[in-house]
Amino acid sequence: MEIRPLKIRDIEKVRELEVACIREYFAATLENKWEDLPQDWKDGLGASSRRHFKAYLDGGLSFVAEEDGEIMGFIFAQMLHHICDEENLLWIENMGVHPYFRRNAIGYKLLRECVKAGMAQGACVAHSMIQLDNAPSIMLHKKVGFFIDRRQVALMDLRDPNLRL
Ligand SMILES: CC(C)(COP(=O)(O)OP(=O)(O)OC[C@H]1O[C@@H](n2cnc3c(N)ncnc32)[C@H](O)[C@@H]1OP(=O)(O)O)[C@@H](O)C(=O)NCCC(=O)NCCS
Repeated sequence: MEIRPLKIRDIEKVRELEVACIREYFAATLENKWEDLPQDWKDGLGASSRRHFKAYLDGGLSFVAEEDGEIMGFIFAQMLHHICDEENLLWIENMGVHPYFRRNAIGYKLLRECVKAGMAQGACVAHSMIQLDNAPSIMLHKKVGFFIDRRQVALMDLRDPNLRL
């Protein structure tokens, strides 16, 4: 198994795996049936979606775990600048490992490689998107050295047609 930078030729396989991971999350947390959700909305989900893939491809901070031409895991990250009092902040958007290959240290290697690459590019801090009910992800991040406190982000959907400012 090799951990290597994301390449353009990975798009189909990595898209399939990221959507499967997102679907898994929906099945575990929301009552929505995946089939009932609008296709346009589903197509926009994830860092591997048409609108976002290139940003994650170009920065050299996204990686895949590959063996025999198959993608077993992925991590999508990019560098953000001048945010949270930092000039360079490593932003980890999403990661996942194929269910069949979990608990084989693939997630650990992907996350560690991504953080090392971020450091090499000058990041002083890393932020990773995690759900507070995702125990495997929390344990993985702690193992790599992340700390998780009570901070949460307040969100506002600026595309909401009902928004009144
Ligand atoms: C979270 C995820 C990426 C972990 O990948 P993985 O390859 O199975 O993780 P690893 O084998 O590298 O595990 C590293 C450490 O993470 C923790 N961990 C991973 N899976 C765990 C689980 N199911 N329960 C408890 N701890 C777990 C353990 O501390 C583990 O170390 P150990 O094996 O020495 O105990 C994987 O479960 C996944 O893809 N989940 C679905 C998608 C997802 O939730 N992505 C995270 C979004 S931030």
